[in-house]
Amino acid sequence: MNLEDKGNINDDKGDIDGKNIKKICVIGLGYIGLPTASMLANHGYEVVGVDIDSKRLESIKNGKLKINEPGLMTLVKGAINSGNLKVKREPEEADAYIICVPTPVIWKENTPKCDLSYIYSAIDSIKPYLHNGNLVIIESTIPPKTTEKIFKYLNKKIYMAYCPERVLPGNILKELVENDRIIGGIDKKSAKLSKEIYSSFVDGNIYLTDPTTAEMVKLMENTYRDVNIALANEFAKICNDLDVNVYEAINLANKHPRVNILNPGPGVGGHCISVDPWFIVEVSNNAELIRAARDLNDSMPKYVCNLIINEFKRMNIPDPKISIFGVAYKGNVEDTRESPGKKIIECLMSNGFNVSIYDPYVKTFDYPLEDLEDCVNNSDGILVLTDHEKFKRFKKRDILNIYNSMRNKIVVDTKNILNHNLWKKIGFEVKLLGDGTSWRGKSNK
Ligand SMILES: NC(=O)c1ccc[n+]([C@@H]2O[C@H](COP(=O)([O-])OP(=O)(O)OC[C@H]3O[C@@H](n4cnc5c(N)ncnc54)[C@H](O)[C@@H]3O)[C@@H](O)[C@H]2O)c1
Repeated sequence: MNLEDKGNINDDKGDIDGKNIKKICVIGLGYIGLPTASMLANHGYEVVGVDIDSKRLESIKNGKLKINEPGLMTLVKGAINSGNLKVKREPEEADAYIICVPTPVIWKENTPKCDLSYIYSAIDSIKPYLHNGNLVIIESTIPPKTTEKIFKYLNKKIYMAYCPERVLPGNILKELVENDRIIGGIDKKSAKLSKEIYSSFVDGNIYLTDPTTAEMVKLMENTYRDVNIALANEFAKICNDLDVNVYEAINLANKHPRVNILNPGPGVGGHCISVDPWFIVEVSNNAELIRAARDLNDSMPKYVCNLIINEFKRMNIPDPKISIFGVAYKGNVEDTRESPGKKIIECLMSNGFNVSIYDPYVKTFDYPLEDLEDCVNNSDGILVLTDHEKFKRFKKRDILNIYNSMRNKIVVDTKNILNHNLWKKIGFEVKLLGDGTSWRGKSNK
């Protein structure tokens, strides 16, 4: 739908322009809301950051929030010290509201669905404070047509827009400023008012459209990644069967000028790529490839687990202990949401493995974390699941220490990040996901 075509449905909402927006309430102070609120505060807006998690609010206020995002706490402290950012549990009257609460997927009778309960409770919490002419922006990832539904649900003379977030965890502050933004306004003025706000700190281009297109754009971006990762993962399984090294094959295929195959891995985690494609599946019966890609990526933890089980059976290792390197869902972050590592650990434990876990980036996890020394002590194998920089940078001395602590000397690298020649030279047997030649026993599931 073209915004120009939608007429002046806002005529009786009260006349505001961007310059009248001085006070903004940001609802949800997580990975997205906190940097956004701080950025706005540092660019002159009076910002009220709202979160229902009191402990989080306390640690933000006293500067002790433990979040492994470069530069974030400096930005937050600057915003609080400037007096422009205050954080609290309840919203208050403001000119604009930005919603950044979680939108996980839930499964009901084998059908995935976006859990919009956080969105609606955030919307209900601001409803009593909304006046004619206020602006409500949703940043959380939502299924197509949700913004329109919420607009109708609110049933107020307000402006409204959907402005999806596209930042990369680990690089949030840079991308918040540099990335292009898409704004889907419920009408032209909503889009323009929202643009005014984001222009205060965004250096990238800001494109205006309608909400359903903007919702679809966000989902298409992550689905594009998911489907392409699924293809790489399928290639890895096939190459494993054929005794071909998938990385060599990908590298050679990518010499083609119009081919760019991604790298395979132990599964797709995080709260975006592994979740968002389901929001398209939820609204359309035509999302067949998208569903298949999701299922394929979700099959990878079991596939990796079976590779390990078969290999250890062949080697006849009694009471095996395996050391997991990395449970964050991706490299150099502390975030373990939807991590394939958790599924692999549970699969290995239920198949009689003793599992120890080392992740120097992660602070809390569902299973105990150990330091490197304890993790590899008397272990029979290392299973690398995350491409952390620290793993890539293991020196000869570190690898020798690991070697001397272990009972059997096997390394399974599902991310192709270790210096394999060095590990082999020291005496390790190195196995690679997607390289059939490195495995003694194979899994076809
Ligand atoms: N993290 C990312 O990299 C990223 C990137 C793009 C889009 N998104 C999307 O942005 C949204 C937020 O993600 P996030 O990673 O910041 O989540 P998060 O879990 O880190 O933070 C959400 C915060 O919202 C708070 N909250 C929940 N309900 C609330 C309510 N009713 N009122 C006030 N606070 C409430 C929670 O306590 C939490 O602190 C999600 O839809 C996500 O899919 C995230």
